[in-house]
Amino acid sequence: MILAIETSCDDTCAAVVTRTGEIRSNVVSSQGVHSRFGGVVPEWASRHHLELVNPVVDQAMEGVDWEEIELVAVTQGPGLVGALLVGVATAKGLAAARRLPLAAVNHLQGHVAANFLGGFEPPFVCLVASGGHTFLARVEDHVGYETLGQTLDDAAGEAFDKGARLLGLGYPGGPALSKLAASGDSTAFKFPIAAKVAGLDFSFAGLKTALLYKVRDLGEAETERLKADLAASYEHAIVEALMLRVERALEAEHEPRLAIGGGVAANRLLRERAQSLGVPVHVPPHALCTDNAAMIASAARHVEPTPYPHYLALDAYATKRA
Ligand code: KG4
Ligand code: ZN
Repeated sequence: MILAIETSCDDTCAAVVTRTGEIRSNVVSSQGVHSRFGGVVPEWASRHHLELVNPVVDQAMEGVDWEEIELVAVTQGPGLVGALLVGVATAKGLAAARRLPLAAVNHLQGHVAANFLGGFEPPFVCLVASGGHTFLARVEDHVGYETLGQTLDDAAGEAFDKGARLLGLGYPGGPALSKLAASGDSTAFKFPIAAKVAGLDFSFAGLKTALLYKVRDLGEAETERLKADLAASYEHAIVEALMLRVERALEAEHEPRLAIGGGVAANRLLRERAQSLGVPVHVPPHALCTDNAAMIASAARHVEPTPYPHYLALDAYATKRA
């Protein structure tokens, strides 16, 4: 079995997954402390990971014997370096104490690999949309992917979070905005979906600015009803912007198949739209879309493990590697 740890942002996660992809435990402790700042405060995230990581690992290991663990896996990047380092140091310590090998996993590959846990096998096109990243990938095997397009500015989750802030909703904004949108009319306002950005790249900066101006224009006239309409129209635009590129990507595929991942893939409207495309689509359960360690274990099954003690010099990295 594989014990995996994920601490790239504000969720402290640990999971135990078998070699065949059976999830024994998948523990996520979300740090509520960031909500009053309307975003993640990196230094606080690191400190909270430090407090939470051991109890979260203990919880994931409940009912599992250490003798059964043959590999420790950890997210190496991309993410907040201070946050990542807590996971990396913990994983090194746990592995070294038992002379176990260690697998260093890329967080984005983890979001892709969440789909393998549902038995969805390559080749497929994968849309990954989270708070920090938004891209389309062609996945041909279990070890990597080819980037087909990516966001030129904000990530889709960031667009949700910033939109939610403009509407006076809490953080993280995605779930809050989506909840409000459910009672609104998505045709009430027309927001741009950057259709002129050719190819498979995304852009969400114009959308956010358009909402800012709408909110300003409405001013005192913004009623609860209008706020729900704004949320619904804004959510609709984000989802349509994503789906426009997904459809373009699938058109170029010989045998189109789609998988989705990342926190935004937990969005009800996006899930519905993806499932109505008329091609084979895999939508992971919510808990495997938002940050979790089971997806890191899934990816680790296909990573060359580093034997003890060679991983002791392993470092975290902040940005996506070429
Ligand atoms: O993958 P994730 O948990 O963390 C990152 O790696 O960034 O994604 C978090 C993002 C946040 O921006 C959050 O607002 C968004 O996913 N999100 C959603 C929903 N649930 C989470 N966005 C829209 N609808 C949701 N239901
Ligand atoms: Zn993520």
